[in-house]
Amino acid sequence: MSQTTNKSSNTVWHHATVTRARRAELNRHQSKVLWFTGLSGAGKSTIAHAVEEELYQKGFHTFVLDGDNVRHGLCGDLGFSDADRVENIRRIGEVSKLFVEAGVLVLTAFISPFRADRDKVRALLNTGDFIEIYCQCPLTVCEERDVKGLYKRARAGEIKAFTGISSPYEEPESPELVIDTSLLSLEQSVQTVLDFLVARGVYA
Ligand code: PPS
Repeated sequence: MSQTTNKSSNTVWHHATVTRARRAELNRHQSKVLWFTGLSGAGKSTIAHAVEEELYQKGFHTFVLDGDNVRHGLCGDLGFSDADRVENIRRIGEVSKLFVEAGVLVLTAFISPFRADRDKVRALLNTGDFIEIYCQCPLTVCEERDVKGLYKRARAGEIKAFTGISSPYEEPESPELVIDTSLLSLEQSVQTVLDFLVARGVYA
């Protein structure tokens, strides 16, 4: 399934006249990837959408790529084996790169359990474009929340290879941001991200 070699020979890159820099000037903000990672139920999607709402209200160009949603279409052919998760994140990395070129502040909410895959996305993008945000939350708390009832089903053996139970999650080693969602409110989490973006000069 995974595409590691490029089979599109005899193709020539066409350079756009409407560049990323020109888009940023028009938009009055830079384009970045805010990569939310963490266990199921850690709050990735909730925080990503709440941050997007704030940015949208400022008139910014934003888009959330969400694991559950993307798996209904672009990645609908992928399951939760290690190989499928690797391919899932590879595709999202490539899509994120296109969004960045399009001038968008893209927010991704994927478990993205493997450090090597997150690092590959970081390497795919220009330095500083990948902002890794670790939604840290103890497994016990995620399991207590069990918003979708998936942990219960995983413990009962109904869902195989469930992250944190029967499939690994590799914590980020040096993420740009760590948000402990067992300690911070949603408002505090959102503010932490917005403050970071301003400090980084993503917008003024
Ligand atoms: S990954 O690991 O990054 O490829 O996963 P992702 O695309 O983010 O999809 C995670 C959502 O899929 C649901 N789900 C599972 N998660 C983990 N393990 C297994 N086996 C699984 N099966 C289904 C679950 O709703 C995840 O959503 P979140 O928002 O993380 O709870």
